[in-house]
Amino acid sequence: MIVTISDNNKNKTIEIKEKKLISTILSESGFSFSMPCGGKHICGKCKVFAKGNLSEPSLKEQSLLQHESKSDIRFACMTYVLGDTEIKLINKETEILTDGYFSQYDLNPSGINYGFAVDIGTTTVAVYGYDLKEGILMCKDSFLNPQSIYGTDVISRIQSSIDGNSKELQNVISDKIQKSILRLCDEYQININLVDNIVITGNTTMLYLLLNKNVRPLASAPFLIDDFLGRDVTASQCGFTHLNNANIYLPRTMSSFIGSDITCSVLAARDLIDDSKSTLLVDIGTNGEMTLFHNNQMLCCSTAAGPAFEGVGITMGVMAESGAINKVYLENNNIMYTTIKDKKPIGICGSGLVDSLAVFLSLGYIDESGYINIDKGEYITEYNGKHAISISDSGNSITQADVRAAQLAKAAICAGIYSLLNEVSLKPSDVDRLIIAGGFGSYIDVKNAAIIRMIPEELATKSIVVGNAAGAGASMILLSEKCRIENEETAKKAEIVDLSTSPYFMEKFVDCIMF
Ligand code: FES
Repeated sequence: MIVTISDNNKNKTIEIKEKKLISTILSESGFSFSMPCGGKHICGKCKVFAKGNLSEPSLKEQSLLQHESKSDIRFACMTYVLGDTEIKLINKETEILTDGYFSQYDLNPSGINYGFAVDIGTTTVAVYGYDLKEGILMCKDSFLNPQSIYGTDVISRIQSSIDGNSKELQNVISDKIQKSILRLCDEYQININLVDNIVITGNTTMLYLLLNKNVRPLASAPFLIDDFLGRDVTASQCGFTHLNNANIYLPRTMSSFIGSDITCSVLAARDLIDDSKSTLLVDIGTNGEMTLFHNNQMLCCSTAAGPAFEGVGITMGVMAESGAINKVYLENNNIMYTTIKDKKPIGICGSGLVDSLAVFLSLGYIDESGYINIDKGEYITEYNGKHAISISDSGNSITQADVRAAQLAKAAICAGIYSLLNEVSLKPSDVDRLIIAGGFGSYIDVKNAAIIRMIPEELATKSIVVGNAAGAGASMILLSEKCRIENEETAKKAEIVDLSTSPYFMEKFVDCIMF
């Protein structure tokens, strides 16, 4: 059976001997493809164009297909290829934040010629190439984490690894990083043999998966890990088949759920942290990771916010890609919106969801319990026989279930902040500065985040956004031996606050579900 796959600038023809899921074929052929629910037939986001000898749509697929206007759309995790087939990936230009705030550092790299810093995010990956002699950024690249075919969030990837996919999870990420570095070297005329240092940061799960380490300790209580990294590894340990001349360093993590992406963010934002003041650093993502600096203490915690703000589990949710509704606002009491790259609206991304909820609240379309007021008027609509609120004339709407999913996610973040402050008897008003790191956090309207109680309102006016600070921190470690030592010391001094057994967190979580 001949299968032709096309994706923007890449075409491939392969032969398969037996029937296979489209998702399996894509994964085996090295195509980056997002499968938010890991192929569990839940998210409905794994659409492709496919025509040829294919399995008949299942009932589940039929119900999803009825909302599709274009023919030839199929769901990759539900459709089997039975004979010759053409598959075309639906091109998505995802906005990936690579810029981040740097604190001061002295240039004294341990490498001599060229080096790369890599930030492996659960959703996206950023790669930065440096001239180490001059300390100059020469090139950068970013892409979706190809492990998302095994699930969007950390928990589903851990489970997938335990279920026997650990080698595949390592292969897809190491292959993609290596290809990115090789491509950049080729394009920027960097001799690959002179790449002598690479720093790779990420949350603890991402680093364990990269090394194909046993992730079971990350899966169940008491979540104790025996390897906090903060050490050199070989190229082959990371699954790289090239890059053998490079010394590869993985910065130290703080715990199973607070990884070196956070220690790197702290390093990058160090100049914004005043020891005599109380500063909160928050990275809002699928996990809300937060660090509080107070009286020379450094307290850290992590809350499972879930992927709602990455578009998963939201009826018309999408990632921050071209056409995503990214801003919603009021003009003369009319709901207005913008989309990424001004493209035709294709769905609602995280920042658009935060804005929408704030706007709906202010207009009374939802009340403080999250209940949709179906008698409110003009923007009340229906989706799949259920009431929803439309975002103006965008053709996109938010259902009651979406509001509930967003409430749980934002409550986890807000309750995490309150819990951390409570550890040292602080109130939100006592915090001098809120530093927001990470892609999603950098795009949200902080005022609206406070309106929906994702963050306490007292913090909204004290916030500063530092972008991809994890990537910046990894770059600082690459460029400065001193920063590497500083980063290790910072990670060791962190005090971890376990929220999973905290009655205060549970109480606050229930309270923060309300708007
Ligand atoms: S429905 Fe196919 S990946 Fe979620």
